Amino acid sequence: MGLRRLHERSTWFCVFLSVLLMITSYEANGKSIKENSNTCSRRISTSFMIRESSAAGNSTRRRSSSCDIFQGRWVFDNSYPLYNLTTCPFIRREFNCIKYGRPDSLYLKYRWQPSYCTLPRFDGKDFLTRFKGKKIMFVGDSLSLNFWQSLVCLLHFAVPRANIIQKTTNTTNIYTFQDYGVSVILYHSLLLVDTESEKIGRVLKLDSIKNGGDVWKNMDVLIFNTWLWWGRRGIKQPWDYVQHGNKISKDMDRMLAFRLALTTWAKWVASDVNSTKTKVFFQGISPSHYNGHDWNQPGIKSCSNQTEPLSGCSYPAGLPSVTTIVKDVLSKVLSKNIVHLLDITTLSQLRKDAHPSAFNGFKNMDCTHWCLPGLPDTWNQLLYAQLSSLFP
Ligand SMILES: *[C@@H]1O[C@H](CO)[C@@H](O)[C@H](O)[C@H]1NC(C)=O
Ligand SMILES: *[C@@H]1O[C@H](CO)[C@@H](O)[C@H](O)[C@H]1NC(C)=O
Ligand SMILES: *[C@@H]1O[C@H](CO)[C@@H](O)[C@H](O)[C@H]1NC(C)=O
Ligand SMILES: *[C@@H]1O[C@H](CO)[C@@H](O)[C@H](O)[C@H]1NC(C)=O
Ligand SMILES: *[C@@H]1O[C@H](CO)[C@@H](O)[C@H](O)[C@H]1NC(C)=O
Repeated sequence: MGLRRLHERSTWFCVFLSVLLMITSYEANGKSIKENSNTCSRRISTSFMIRESSAAGNSTRRRSSSCDIFQGRWVFDNSYPLYNLTTCPFIRREFNCIKYGRPDSLYLKYRWQPSYCTLPRFDGKDFLTRFKGKKIMFVGDSLSLNFWQSLVCLLHFAVPRANIIQKTTNTTNIYTFQDYGVSVILYHSLLLVDTESEKIGRVLKLDSIKNGGDVWKNMDVLIFNTWLWWGRRGIKQPWDYVQHGNKISKDMDRMLAFRLALTTWAKWVASDVNSTKTKVFFQGISPSHYNGHDWNQPGIKSCSNQTEPLSGCSYPAGLPSVTTIVKDVLSKVLSKNIVHLLDITTLSQLRKDAHPSAFNGFKNMDCTHWCLPGLPDTWNQLLYAQLSSLFP
């Protein structure tokens, strides 16, 4: 009886919500969006949702409704990409797929369509005006670099004649849009926690995060990311020893090491970051595509020749297990709503077509990073949507 009533109520609520959101999308787009709610199940989690006020307007009907912007599918949209090679002079050779000969261009023409709402189109002028005087920093590895470059391109495209000052230090790379006082900064850090050179070699300190912290906490927006390097071994492994507490060992379980480091980071955010001033994001795990088995093409060993995204809203292989660690550790901090997860994993998993493959300045097979223009532009749309609700 109770269950049935709950079911009826939630059904009613979904209908109500869909109507509101269709109205909103209609207003935003000039065309309504057909949704098949059977294909993608609704998944709401208070920490990851975005509020969207109903276009219907007045205060009684203006309940804010929620839509998980990370759940949806890719749709063809001929108005994409949001900028191109000729309009962004900053694209590095790692990501500059068009310049390095990528012949197909369909991969540039997809827009992320959340199941129950529509993302605002990235508006660079609005971004610069809204975040005037603010410092936005990406902290992490080359996937942060990928994300950061995309934002610089998106903003530059909106204001091509604006004065930009570029400055590099040993750990940071800064683009300042002078007319707006907005700085978009990359802070290079593979593991977020410290690695110190000692007599025995490079020691990865799972409990210590003092190297970058003083710089990071002066920012207005921080977008952290780490994972890629935690699994590396041999010459690519960026440490020689691991220290946890007083114990120094040659190696340890990588998932455990990652969990401990992320916990150190989360505690640092909770204790050292003024969450009134600084909005903190964690960039979800970015997937790679080296195993066709994951997307039901067994035998395929790379992203080479992939020209289309997967249709639908779920990935055959499911989520990589490390995402469980991320959500688990973040949930301890998220209860206070301090860290926002940019839950980009599934939507990026669907984009087996969006990697450089061999079309980069190195000619080696890269199914880890992403072409620009391309997928990270969508990550920035998602960031923009979330930031806009945090700095209304
Ligand atoms: C809001 O709209 C509803 C329906 O159109 C109307 O009945 C109600 O009086 C309005 N409320 C206010 C505060 O304007
Ligand atoms: C790149 O941008 C220029 C200028 O906006 C435009 O003329 C051209 O068609 C664009 N190229 C692509 C591939 O979108
Ligand atoms: C980077 O520069 C800062 C300040 O100039 C210095 O304290 C720090 O040791 C440098 N870091 C590296 C890795 O060289
Ligand atoms: C946190 O930041 C807000 C906004 O900038 C400021 O008013 C407040 O004093 C800061 N709190 C602390 C403890 O520094
Ligand atoms: C990709 O396509 C090219 C041309 O059709 C072909 O020569 C090559 O073997 C393909 N590569 C893979 C990994 O399937």
